[in-house]
Amino acid sequence: MKKNIMLALLLAGMCTFQACGEDGSSAEMSINQGMVNENSAEEDIPPAEQNGYIATGGIENPEIPAPETPAEEVPAETPTEPSPEEIIITPESIINDTEIPSVIDYTPETAKAGTPASTAVLPANAPTLDDYNYGAPPVVYDIPGIKYIDNVLIANKSYSLPADFYPELDPTCLNQFYKLQNDASYEGLNIYLSSGFRSYETQEAIYNDYVASDGQEVADTYSARAGHSEHQSGLAIDVNQIDDTFIGTPEAIWLEEHCWEYGFILRYPQSKQDITGYKYESWHIRYVGTDMSYKIHNKALEMNDPYLTLEEYFGIDSYYH
Ligand code: DAL
Ligand code: ZN
Repeated sequence: MKKNIMLALLLAGMCTFQACGEDGSSAEMSINQGMVNENSAEEDIPPAEQNGYIATGGIENPEIPAPETPAEEVPAETPTEPSPEEIIITPESIINDTEIPSVIDYTPETAKAGTPASTAVLPANAPTLDDYNYGAPPVVYDIPGIKYIDNVLIANKSYSLPADFYPELDPTCLNQFYKLQNDASYEGLNIYLSSGFRSYETQEAIYNDYVASDGQEVADTYSARAGHSEHQSGLAIDVNQIDDTFIGTPEAIWLEEHCWEYGFILRYPQSKQDITGYKYESWHIRYVGTDMSYKIHNKALEMNDPYLTLEEYFGIDSYYH
């Protein structure tokens, strides 16, 4: 743990806004947890540390006490049918006084909006702007070196991101996650954000740590090399326990069944390691927007393959060239 604590402190120094910001804190600070836990649960994590890594207020910072239990942050009352007014949560309303992180190298001017839903060819039953679950496509950055297919950013072993790409966690992605989290809570489930945006440097530190403990060949099956992690895109979220103990939990089952309704896909499904390049990660979801997630979901139904991957959908590979 000592090594990880030191790294956590190091990472804290890299943070660029108040206490790393709401999403950034969860992302960056929970990396320490991920370093211990992402592949194996060999090392124990004190419950107090685990409880610090939640989306709605959990910031592991000596000056900001972590909440006692993550469950406190999610309403666990008797389910009632919420009205849309009650359940639409904006990042602003959640984050309170914490500012949305400013984009460092990439301003809104360098980003262009994704394909508007009104002009996209939408699959049947796709949500519209009027629907509660609607999630706009992520912004598309007009930056050389980023691979897009149909306005979907691709980050895998074949396609990397620029080392200075620092978009933070996409606000639409975060908002859609809050909707998902909120709906799950009405089912009595506690889904919380454990890791969101990671910088190139953070991913490098994580990967190197895994290589040091497991060797490169094994590390490559569960951790991305710097530049190749989806977490650097600001469009990926790891939830709950970042290890195999999450598999088969009610939260994991619900996430797999419902995440597409909010614009996410389960990015590294079971039995697809040869295609994605990574072993099954029941906790890693990727935001693509509801237009695209519905298309992918429909394709999966059409192909009778519930584990259809992004690589298969777009006909691309994922290996280090
Ligand atoms: N664990 C995933 C593959 C990552 O490191 O981004
Ligand atoms: Zn992940």
